[in-house]
Amino acid sequence: MPILNGDRKDVLFLDLVTPHAMMERELIGVFRQALHTACFIGGPMVENFEEAFAAFCGTSHSIAVSSGTDALRFAIMTCGIQPGDVVFTVPHTFIATTEAISQAGAVPEFIDIDKNTYNMSVEMLQLYLEEQCTRNQAGKLVSLRSGRPVTAVVPVHLYGQMADMDSILRLAEEYGLTVIEDACQAHGAEYFSKRLNRWMKAGSMGQAAAFSFYPGKNLGACGEAGAVTTNDTGIANKVKMLRDHGQTTKYIHDVEGYNGRLDAIQAGLLHAKLAHLAKWNSLRRNHAVEYNRLLATTAGLTLPYEPSWSRAVYHLYVIRIHDRDGMISHLKKAGIGTGIHYPIPLHLQKAYVSLNYSPEDFPVTRRVASEILSLPMFPQLTGDQQVRVAEEIKAFTSSTTHTPDGSREEMAAAH
Ligand SMILES: Cc1ncc(COP(=O)(O)O)c(C=O)c1O
Repeated sequence: MPILNGDRKDVLFLDLVTPHAMMERELIGVFRQALHTACFIGGPMVENFEEAFAAFCGTSHSIAVSSGTDALRFAIMTCGIQPGDVVFTVPHTFIATTEAISQAGAVPEFIDIDKNTYNMSVEMLQLYLEEQCTRNQAGKLVSLRSGRPVTAVVPVHLYGQMADMDSILRLAEEYGLTVIEDACQAHGAEYFSKRLNRWMKAGSMGQAAAFSFYPGKNLGACGEAGAVTTNDTGIANKVKMLRDHGQTTKYIHDVEGYNGRLDAIQAGLLHAKLAHLAKWNSLRRNHAVEYNRLLATTAGLTLPYEPSWSRAVYHLYVIRIHDRDGMISHLKKAGIGTGIHYPIPLHLQKAYVSLNYSPEDFPVTRRVASEILSLPMFPQLTGDQQVRVAEEIKAFTSSTTHTPDGSREEMAAAH
């Protein structure tokens, strides 16, 4: 997508040029340092970033890897999940979540999302555990759907808002499941844990967590990058081994691993950007408050919902509207970029035909997927740009007739 096109009125969905221009000298300095030391793989730049990112997340360890997908795959592979085990996740996420599960040798089974937060529904998880799972003779939890042992849950902190972790951890504890956070969209998001009586950062609550540093993320590399966070030293050591061909000492391979390391230049660039992340996240939060204010009285829209226990970091600002296609083409004509995250739920993707889900499954996900629209959201978004986006949204909604928005109630019925 072109980032800058010279038309000052256009509002990009994501401006990735400005923040890099602002940091250009610093970023080039990182590159120069790598050239001068020829330390391209591993070394102090990677270790320093790992230490800083672990401190940011409030975890004992952060292990830098080559992508968020690898981070999630390695986390799953090192958390005791066996080939053939079932791992629960949501159908409303990027396919990397389920790719990581499958590529770790496990099988994804889906739990529908909450109608307000769009993250895993705790009610649906509980219902599934109670009604769709049983204990086998050995006392292991088994999915009735597949007959396979259920060992883990991967809640996804979608759009920069954490899933209801206390409740998920409580159920996981009750049923003996491991929880691995997909925090790929949630760098710095916080959750107030009643159990711990304090705010917890994304990536610090599960057995392990995966982050993506894909360029457009709240903390993005200038290429591919990811990290696993954990408080478990055993898991951290296993991830380090897996990312490096299964070796701890050069050419001594305890297991078959992967080429999954993060290169030093990306680590250095990420470290430089990490210093700005809290400020960038707070700008995103301010923009969300401003969108909420500007769009509060617009008929036919559902705005993002942030529970009192959540401090979201708005990787995406997602509204819902019936006539999404109409809205997209109106905004496009007005020079405003938008996105859909994600238009087709995973259980309806060709890639997952073999999971044998029916089109009628997961009604909340299906409905949400048909109505969501991501508006421009990035730290450098200006107040004027937000006003323009809001004006165009209002121009479209007032030009079309609406049924009153009873979506929340209808969605409740869909449960
Ligand atoms: C929810 C989610 N999980 C996993 C990933 C995978 O991350 P990566 O693209 O860095 O492999 C992404 C990236 O877009 C994501 O959004």
